[in-house]
Amino acid sequence: MKSIVIAITGASAMQLGERSVQILLENNKTVDLILSKGAYQVAKSERNINIPAEPNTQAEFWRNKLNINSGKLTCYRWNDHSASIASGSHKTKGMVIVPCSMGTLGRIASGFSLDLIERCADVHLKENRPLIISPRESPFNLIHIENLSRLAKAGALIVPPIPAWYTDPKTIDDLIDFIVVRIFDSLGEDLNNIKRWDGPNKL
Ligand SMILES: Cc1cc2nc3c(=O)[nH]c(=O)nc-3n(C[C@H](O)[C@H](O)[C@H](O)COP(=O)(O)O)c2cc1C
Repeated sequence: MKSIVIAITGASAMQLGERSVQILLENNKTVDLILSKGAYQVAKSERNINIPAEPNTQAEFWRNKLNINSGKLTCYRWNDHSASIASGSHKTKGMVIVPCSMGTLGRIASGFSLDLIERCADVHLKENRPLIISPRESPFNLIHIENLSRLAKAGALIVPPIPAWYTDPKTIDDLIDFIVVRIFDSLGEDLNNIKRWDGPNKL
């Protein structure tokens, strides 16, 4: 089964990437997961979590944390340029970068593939495969906006982590799920066991 690549970078709200992985595995999908160097730092300072970098140990860490046995999860080191997903020959369904830092955004927009996430994004663009970018910063400066525009013109889909209020969210998890569902809708991925807004509540 072709995988979906999930990349979590050093922007705030890595819970969005984490929930994406959980939903995909719950749906028996195959996930290739890359955390940027910055993501480890944000996990530590924002959530006081030490995420193991060794790929097998990290896969086990996520399975325990997300309490999930189904699906297939492969983790990669941020600088592993020899990974299969660094090549266009390795077929995937698409790639989602969530949350995407302005650093990663800028490097992808300028074709500067420093780490595995940037290389993988570059591959998805050149192979004309879906690349979804969920940029997390506020406010955007003009450079951020131009980088987003450049990537959109190159074929990426920009799906910002902006929640909606028409769904009447009660918890942060509701907000997270709304954003994650929008991302996978954009990827055209059918998922079960997710809450989906289906029109306003009838009064
Ligand atoms: C707690 C914390 C939160 C951060 N939040 C953001 C953010 O929301 N957006 C962003 O672009 N950078 C954010 N940064 C800065 C990035 O982590 C930093 O620019 C890093 O070099 C990005 O590396 P990466 O793109 O390789 O992940 C944050 C840093 C920390 C420590």
